Amino acid sequence: MPSDKPLERTIYVGPFVHSKTFDELELCEDGAIGVDEKGKITFVDRHGTGVSNRPGWESAKVVRISGKGFFFPGFIGPDSHIHASQYPNLGIFGKSTLLDWLQTYTFPLEGSFSDLEKARKIYNRVVARTLANGTTTAAYYATIHVPATNLLADICQTRGQRAFVGRVCMNSTLSPDYYRDESAEQAIKASRECIEHVKKIDPANELISHIITPRFAPSCTKESLKMLGDLHRETGVPCQTHISENKNECELVKELYPESKSYAGVYDDAGLLTDKMILAHAVHLTQEEKELIRDRKSKISHCPASNTAITSGCCRVRELMDTGIDVGLGTDVSGGFSPSILEVTRQAIWVSRHIAMHEGDHVKLSTEEALYLATRGGAKVVGLEDKIGGFDVGKEFDAQMVRLDEVQDGDDELDDEDGPVDIFGNESFENTVAKWVYNGNHQNTVAVWVKGR
Ligand code: GUN
Ligand code: FE
Repeated sequence: MPSDKPLERTIYVGPFVHSKTFDELELCEDGAIGVDEKGKITFVDRHGTGVSNRPGWESAKVVRISGKGFFFPGFIGPDSHIHASQYPNLGIFGKSTLLDWLQTYTFPLEGSFSDLEKARKIYNRVVARTLANGTTTAAYYATIHVPATNLLADICQTRGQRAFVGRVCMNSTLSPDYYRDESAEQAIKASRECIEHVKKIDPANELISHIITPRFAPSCTKESLKMLGDLHRETGVPCQTHISENKNECELVKELYPESKSYAGVYDDAGLLTDKMILAHAVHLTQEEKELIRDRKSKISHCPASNTAITSGCCRVRELMDTGIDVGLGTDVSGGFSPSILEVTRQAIWVSRHIAMHEGDHVKLSTEEALYLATRGGAKVVGLEDKIGGFDVGKEFDAQMVRLDEVQDGDDELDDEDGPVDIFGNESFENTVAKWVYNGNHQNTVAVWVKGR
């Protein structure tokens, strides 16, 4: 856990990798990144010089990569999208699709978070596990329970993860009696309590923000969506929800909101489609909806592992990007089966290749593009592109140390076969990064920093 000790000026010495543009990585073999007492990047040296003789930095602490490895920006899951409360259900979805998956697996588990001790155990694990996987920023869905939602915010704060913590709003009768908001008014009141709690624990939103969270249109009423839109406008607090994930869900939205022009139109009519809205999935949007989302500057969290697991569909990320929408990646635990954004990065690449087999190579996501979505793309989605996402002077140091020679399972030969290890010792840097993306896991992330801690 992060300590309260003041930060020391630190120079991170060794190779680093980050996105330069959407389709280009910078691979620096001999880097030095200077981070000041506030966790801000003060200099980025690309020639490995000036570490010991830089004025004012002579006595700085040095963190050096020994052996094979590199510094990489922390993942931003928006991990744009993870249901912290669904963590115990990882990998449990059977043959279900969205609407029956919610009733069978999800609502019964989430409903049990009235038990604060259960919530404490699970939320501690989720935050520890996502950090261990290199996720330095997460946008969380909690549950409808105010005490458990506030506890999740406390745990993120204590463990030092940057987080957007959402209290799920769901007052429609799609939800079972045992797990539903009593009314729109009560959902707003509960959201306000959570907003107040975050103001108390992190008044400057240094690490933690509340995020207004209507579950999705079918879980809400027109009235509650409108009231949440008003709350968004009044407080400036960001929003997240699901959109157009599954075809039956899209049909249901048409039935429930006949007066709106489209699914995206439902959120727009409620005043929720703004530049601070993160929309998860977005698999079945029409071109008109995409253009509306772009015009409103709303963001999209792409959740490929989840979309495959509960067979929602293949999201066409290339089209979203070409339309001009900002996209990040989400694990969507437990629709998605893994809390790792590295895994989701691979899944994003896989899904794009499945689409490419039908529609042509132009839709394929490259390794570089997928890593962009996991870092700078995610930063844009959560509105923190000025603060995090890459190793730029003025940004805060959110990073992971990736080691490719350190998979310690006690068997040297197995290490060579399982881990992304350079067996012959002559691999290019580019290939080392590719090996990490396609073979790596949390064991390769040996250290994680958020804001220099
Ligand atoms: N739509 C409404 N609720 C959920 C949820 O919990 N997970 C996913 N994947 N989609 C949803
Ligand atoms: Fe989700």
